[in-house]
Amino acid sequence: MRISVPVEGQEIDLDTVDLFDPRLYATGDPHPVWHALRQRAPIHRQTLPDGRSFWSVTKYHDVNDVLRDHTRFTSTKGTLLSILGAQDPAGGKMMAASDPPTHTAMREPLMKVMSHRALKDRQPQIRRIVHRRMLSHLLDGGVWDIATTAADFPMAFTGSLMGLPERDWPRLTKLTTMAVAPTDSEFQEGSGHGTLVAAHHELFDYFSRFVRRHPGGDDDLVGFLTGMEAGGRRLRHDEIVYNCYSLLLGANVTTPHAIASTVLALIEHPDEYRRLLADPSLVPGAVDEGLRWSSPANHFMRYAVHDLELRGVSIKQGDALVTWLGSANRDEDVFPDPYRFDITRRPNRHVAFGFGPHYCIGAPLAKIALNLLFEEITRVVERFEVAGPIEHLESNFVAGIKHLPLTARLRDGAEELLRDAARDGLVEA
Ligand code: HEM
Repeated sequence: MRISVPVEGQEIDLDTVDLFDPRLYATGDPHPVWHALRQRAPIHRQTLPDGRSFWSVTKYHDVNDVLRDHTRFTSTKGTLLSILGAQDPAGGKMMAASDPPTHTAMREPLMKVMSHRALKDRQPQIRRIVHRRMLSHLLDGGVWDIATTAADFPMAFTGSLMGLPERDWPRLTKLTTMAVAPTDSEFQEGSGHGTLVAAHHELFDYFSRFVRRHPGGDDDLVGFLTGMEAGGRRLRHDEIVYNCYSLLLGANVTTPHAIASTVLALIEHPDEYRRLLADPSLVPGAVDEGLRWSSPANHFMRYAVHDLELRGVSIKQGDALVTWLGSANRDEDVFPDPYRFDITRRPNRHVAFGFGPHYCIGAPLAKIALNLLFEEITRVVERFEVAGPIEHLESNFVAGIKHLPLTARLRDGAEELLRDAARDGLVEA
């Protein structure tokens, strides 16, 4: 998705705004549209040609209100536009598509194994993955499409966390992208709808067989799910399968785009990259600003539980509300100078990981991986340059870059460091 700075006074006809169309995020630019909506119609209704409709929520505090309050806005009917108007079969079974207390019962035990504290011992392993899977490409010295490489990166740490065999990782990565960008020509297999159905079918079938064969035990996340108690009972087979799917999708489709978009932002803001090189303690701030800037999860949806008012607008029971996270993260009432990429922005309470009870459970893992990656990048790269056309993912759910060819000028001594890391995987921080 392009990230632009809307020009004051730019003509946007709110009657023809189409935030549903995945092509907007591949070849268009939603930022001027979101900007106009925040100013003129912060709660805006869009009706599709087939009669289905949804409310777009574009201001930060409204987005938080919707995401925070399950008594008014439920997740059980589906949380993504791709299934607008259809009952989500995962409703009440998958954590992401449940409301408290079912949601809380599943989430609490999982939080224990997905917290920063539980995962911090994995840092050396993830640092090795950073070198083997990402930075080793710098040794080739030519043009490196960092977006393509980044697409496989989360699978390497989530796959091992979940206990999934490495031989399955490439196909699983492809399937998760097909599920979120079924109309993108690079990932489409047949029609858009057919791609979505086929990806879901294969993923659920894969996890169903994998879970049945799994011996159990707490060595990996799938084993943990099979033994976990939620609300005084073990999870059923379908609940385990849905949650495996959700964990994998959550990790695979978002993290790569945070990487590519943050690297692009640092190329476009060379002063910020120079600050980072001079002071690596700024890496966590840069990662957070990259997340705000890119907002890789573009939207999440809820349905109104009863008739209600939001910012004075009447919402009827059963209406769908779509919170646009990329818009909330540019709300000028919350973020001073929101179109400025500032790695020392404080405070930076972005909603890239959502807000409220469904706040991303993978955020600690994602942050560990992103911090390690950018720590290592700043150790070895003096400067990146764009070396070819940038291509964006066709998806209304994931704001993503699928191709970002670049060249890198390495720092003094970096080649040796990269070679050592590639050879034996031992990298001293
Ligand atoms: C940069 C990376 C990531 C971004 C931007 C991101 C974004 C989000 C957002 C916005 C939500 C809120 C959904 C809602 O309100 O309905 C969420 C939830 C979730 N994410 Fe992530 N995510 C990332 C990484 C991960 C990773 C690494 C995992 C798994 C290992 C993961 C698994 C999940 C799950 C299972 C949920 C549902 C949580 C719940 O319902 O309580 N995510 N994510």
